[in-house]
Amino acid sequence: MKKNYTFQPSTCRENTNAEKYILRKQLFGREDVLPVWVADMDIDTPDFVLEAVKKRLEHPVFGYEEVPKSAFLAQIEWMKKEHGVVYELEDMFYSHSVVASMNAVIEAFTKEGEGVIVQTPVYSPFFHSVKEHKRKLIKNPLKQLVDGKYVFDIEDLKAKIDEKTKLLLLCSPHNPVGRVWLKEELEQILELCLEHNIVVFSDEIHSDLVYAPNFHMPFASLSQKARDITITAMGVGKTFNMAGFAMSTVAISNKELREKFMEVYKKVHFANGTVFGHVGFEAAYTHGKEWLEDLKLHLIQNFHMLQILCEKYPHAVNVTPIEATYLAWLDCRGMQLSNKKLKEFFVNEAKLGLNNGISFGREGSGFMRLNFAISHAKMLQVIKQLENALQNRYGRKND
Ligand SMILES: Cc1ncc(COP(=O)(O)O)c(C=O)c1O
Repeated sequence: MKKNYTFQPSTCRENTNAEKYILRKQLFGREDVLPVWVADMDIDTPDFVLEAVKKRLEHPVFGYEEVPKSAFLAQIEWMKKEHGVVYELEDMFYSHSVVASMNAVIEAFTKEGEGVIVQTPVYSPFFHSVKEHKRKLIKNPLKQLVDGKYVFDIEDLKAKIDEKTKLLLLCSPHNPVGRVWLKEELEQILELCLEHNIVVFSDEIHSDLVYAPNFHMPFASLSQKARDITITAMGVGKTFNMAGFAMSTVAISNKELREKFMEVYKKVHFANGTVFGHVGFEAAYTHGKEWLEDLKLHLIQNFHMLQILCEKYPHAVNVTPIEATYLAWLDCRGMQLSNKKLKEFFVNEAKLGLNNGISFGREGSGFMRLNFAISHAKMLQVIKQLENALQNRYGRKND
């Protein structure tokens, strides 16, 4: 019988090592903010993952372990069923972090001074990684339409590619703008990458958190030619709230690309992860479907609560339409505050700890990112605090 998951408030994370909580003073200057920033969930990791870990604990030896084939196979099966993309075992690599995989790809496929494209605003390691490797950062900002939705700027991309452009870092679905890229949009990117021999690193860590009727199209599934130029990063970190397991994968179908990647991969010794990561990862991809369906319903209800609030203050805060992720991209430009003052409004007036939009690149100026992967009760608290703060500034608005 189908179990119904209700996502009650997570077990308290205060006084654990949870980044979201312990960094409050450092990031927001005070401890009493409700933290809705870093992209993990204040929702318990699923019971079937915990069961798998407990079972592993029954064996008292925790020596070196390979990633079990069955774990990779569980993910391969999941990707086939959920996203229609087929990988072989030999295509799969373990990685402790998608960001680490991205850095390895930059190292493997580009040289100092060569160009790497990123589409801003975007999760900041995209541009930090490029700069840290002393590659040339090519910013191809997304365009925002009147309804707030973002699209690729293909003309800008065409104009910026030159013979030294070697890599494109694609965020699909996109954090923070919440887009699920359509086949036709991805094909435009593909066409340019094929024409200019550009390798694509497709970060698909948010691909299971897509809201119907949208569906995720893996970049590698566009065509055989797409497969041949793509390195895909995937993992359980976001979907099943398992960032603390440090368990993700890289999938590369093309042998040449695989060998090139492997040179760096071996050199920096990615190794095999943890025994708990292995069993948790396998359990998530084996038993996760129903839990995930319930989770997405839960998340979208939280998002609707936020939408209803923002509709009362359209001149101050607009929430960008969302197709994927549990990260709301709030357009606060109507408040006409500097980024510093905007943060202060959220921290000191609403007592909420969000990510500053500007940290996703200049294009995020005037925006804030709010993580709504919390219980309904906590979401109501977030809404109440934000509504009070908005009321104090702009007056009471009727329901
Ligand atoms: C697009 C994207 N990629 C990667 C990550 C981080 O992945 P990892 O913890 O596996 O490095 C995040 C986390 O928020 C993300 O949003």
